[in-house]
Amino acid sequence: MTNEPTGNIKKGMEVELKIESLAFGGRGVARVNGFVVFIDDVLPGQRVLIRVTRKRKGYAEARLLQILEPSPEEVAAKCRHFGECGGCRFQHLDYRAQLKYKREQVLESLERIGGFVNPTVLDPIPSPDIFYYRNKMEYSFGRRRWLSREEIDADQIIKPRDFALGLHVRGRYDRILDLDECFLQSSASVEMLSLVKETARGSGIQPYSTEDHTGYWRHLVIREGKNTGETLINIVTADEPRNLRLVDDLARMLKQQFPQITTIVHNINRRKAEVAIGQEERVLHGPGTITERIGARRYRISANSFFQTNTKCAEILYQKVAEFADFKGDELVYDLYAGAGTISLYIADSVRQVVGFELVPDAVKDAEANCELNGIDNCSFVLCDLKDAGGLQHSQNGEEPDAIIIDPPRAGMHHDVVNQVIAINPQKIVYVSCNPTTFARDAQALSSAGYSLQDIQPVDMFPMTVHIELVSLFRKV
Ligand SMILES: C[S@@+](CC[C@H](N)C(=O)[O-])C[C@H]1O[C@@H](n2cnc3c(N)ncnc32)[C@H](O)[C@@H]1O
Repeated sequence: MTNEPTGNIKKGMEVELKIESLAFGGRGVARVNGFVVFIDDVLPGQRVLIRVTRKRKGYAEARLLQILEPSPEEVAAKCRHFGECGGCRFQHLDYRAQLKYKREQVLESLERIGGFVNPTVLDPIPSPDIFYYRNKMEYSFGRRRWLSREEIDADQIIKPRDFALGLHVRGRYDRILDLDECFLQSSASVEMLSLVKETARGSGIQPYSTEDHTGYWRHLVIREGKNTGETLINIVTADEPRNLRLVDDLARMLKQQFPQITTIVHNINRRKAEVAIGQEERVLHGPGTITERIGARRYRISANSFFQTNTKCAEILYQKVAEFADFKGDELVYDLYAGAGTISLYIADSVRQVVGFELVPDAVKDAEANCELNGIDNCSFVLCDLKDAGGLQHSQNGEEPDAIIIDPPRAGMHHDVVNQVIAINPQKIVYVSCNPTTFARDAQALSSAGYSLQDIQPVDMFPMTVHIELVSLFRKV
């Protein structure tokens, strides 16, 4: 039974409606007499038939039953895995529309969560490349291969079911989609993936399983210096000394077939957690790190350190950081969540001194090596957990920083860190965020402490995905 839209939404009800916009995270938003309904797998502009699956206070969730009218913003997806793969979500949405909805999501988060009224969110800066933009891909091995739509439709299984190397299926952390193509990193990356897959499968040794914690092959990480052409391969396995020879042989084959590979490492992960980081690293070829260039700087990157995944966009992002901070040359600057020191080094020539704070020891080592590589002597790095008491030093030789740059992970800043920043009382804060909702929360706290939120510039680091990156400026009033 199809009902006309009414505000009187009930679970199980079927409704025809038009999708109005996209919420952060990618769900479609529609309204039934003002009542908000969230629906997966839809695009704004579509007229759809939905079934309400859950009603909550203030909103409902629904499942798509049928698309009745297409969206004028829909385009053909490029990849054969689109719709099943967890890598790209919006390949079928025109790129200009992706930017428009990302801007709206930043605005909506700031209004709803941060309580800001009409904040000025600038138009997102597009990524120079909308495909092949990633410098890092992390593929997973799995024992439960996802059966593709074609296989199910043709009722024909074309590959072994118990071996896969690729990306997680959207929303399914127990299933791996065996990748045959991917437009996120480079065509060479997919060729390397195929060689590793065939060789690992041919070894007769099973992928590691998080269900019973047996098996060997865990991850393949490929990092490419987009501006240097250097390539790092990281093979991540469980701990089994008898299999080391297999990894060594695989490394030899990769080196022979792909001369652009400048280094190969083997990470042995003895933990149960599904992360591509080992407790032991063997360097099988080259220096164990690659370098990437952003602006005038060269950066050394190891297998496990954080580096912005879209090199060309990172340069735009850092230019914006420098532009917003508008340094005069004599400042002491703190760089919180410094990673491998990328922002610190980028701004080093424009200020007197930079102190970076970072949790991961390898990233701090990389940051220090990066200073040496670039002949920089006015940056130093503190290895610490910023949320611990004493993590964030309030001054350097009695001097407090003039500006603080903050680039936290998705969870945003711990409230103790927010309070410490407020206590330090810098004139300017430049906040780089990869999550508009935690940004809105932190922005609200800074604004309550007397900081005025001035410019908000989204930079589209992650085309085709739901992710949003932005740079913002706060000034003490
Ligand atoms: C989004 S990355 C930013 C890295 C760097 N600013 C850049 O542009 O490459 C966030 C960084 O914060 C670090 N981090 C996360 N939690 C932390 C904490 N509690 N204390 C210090 N650093 C932390 C992570 O290790 C990571 O390097």
